[in-house]
Amino acid sequence: MPNELRLGVNIDHVATVRNARGGAYPDPVRAAKIAEEAGADGITAHLREDRRHITDGDIEALMEALTLPLNFEMAATDEMQAIALRHKPHAVCIVPEKREERTTEGGLEVAREENRLAHFIAPLREAGCRVSIFIAADQRQIEAAHRIGAEVVELHTGAYCDAHAEGRFDERDAELGRIAEMATFAHELGLEVHAGHGLTYDCVQPIAALPELVELNIGHYLIGEAIFLGLEASIREMRRLMDAARA
Ligand code: PXP
Repeated sequence: MPNELRLGVNIDHVATVRNARGGAYPDPVRAAKIAEEAGADGITAHLREDRRHITDGDIEALMEALTLPLNFEMAATDEMQAIALRHKPHAVCIVPEKREERTTEGGLEVAREENRLAHFIAPLREAGCRVSIFIAADQRQIEAAHRIGAEVVELHTGAYCDAHAEGRFDERDAELGRIAEMATFAHELGLEVHAGHGLTYDCVQPIAALPELVELNIGHYLIGEAIFLGLEASIREMRRLMDAARA
């Protein structure tokens, strides 16, 4: 199994800071360029229905300026599908946006919506986008993601990170065990396995050490640390920790 673990840097919260004032800065495209220099393998951006951070113009500018692959996170709506089909990013990650689309663990409820999602992702795949589904580490959801034709699943690490941050170490370890078991299960089904949400310097390494994972998507913490360290140093440190966990 290859030892390489890709880092996708999520730049949404650069846009959050920009939008707090309006105007043009800080610029998410500039952040993406710095991320590339700091060792990111891809850029992730979530165009939310309410455009609370990333805007349509950001997606356009990223598609134009990026040399790294763009992982376009979006809800399974007609509007977002049309935008994805217009830009044809390298990857599309389908995420829940409304409460009723979520499982209790926070991933997309694929199992209940299999038919609709199968039809939803088919044109994206035909357009050449790699389709990923953001789900809880749950066997039912993984099987459903596989059946609808997704090539990638991204396992939700939020509950693991929260349990770590709040000192609930038994729960954290149980959650890590579940993610490990489901990463193996998904890999054996032939799915590419990613993970993300809530990862920090403190909790990334046990996740990064899971051999089936090929990509982590990390955003909020990196942008927060950038306030203290600068963005390049913030990302480099995450990269170093991930590589050390794999070594
Ligand atoms: N992966 C997915 C699918 C996400 O929706 C997000 C949050 O936008 C992330 C990863 C990154 O999470 P965080 O910003 O907490 O690192």
